[in-house]
Amino acid sequence: MERRIFIKKCCQVGIGLPLAASLLQSCGALYYATTTQDAGKTIVAKSEFWEVRKNKKVRRPFVLITVEGLAFPICIYETQEDNYVASLLKCTHRGCELNVGGGIYSCPCHGSEFSASGGLLQGPAERDLKTFKTETDHENIYLYIS
Ligand code: FES
Repeated sequence: MERRIFIKKCCQVGIGLPLAASLLQSCGALYYATTTQDAGKTIVAKSEFWEVRKNKKVRRPFVLITVEGLAFPICIYETQEDNYVASLLKCTHRGCELNVGGGIYSCPCHGSEFSASGGLLQGPAERDLKTFKTETDHENIYLYIS
């Protein structure tokens, strides 16, 4: 490889890596919240919806949790201020695990889409997502998983 081409490629990598890293960071990774169990309830602290990015507190629109005995994660979306909807990330068409992003759930298998509240937006699925009853107090979100 010529020296000039080698230097050009090195510069592209040098510029590209920080750019890619900042883009990935701005997309935000999926975050799995910590849970506790108490008297049949799964408890998630509301503070799990906050993260610190570049010394600023940023609100996550949703967090994921795993629950023993469930083969799919649950996504808890804050659909309105202090209103949370917990949906099982299992497509109601043929059971693929859903992707989360852009305010909707999308199925990688056949393209069904669901709203952040679990409502069907687009088939081939014909039913809404399974959701779980939630309650809140000033500190926590309580999920009733049955
Ligand atoms: S399994 Fe999700 S659309 Fe078919």
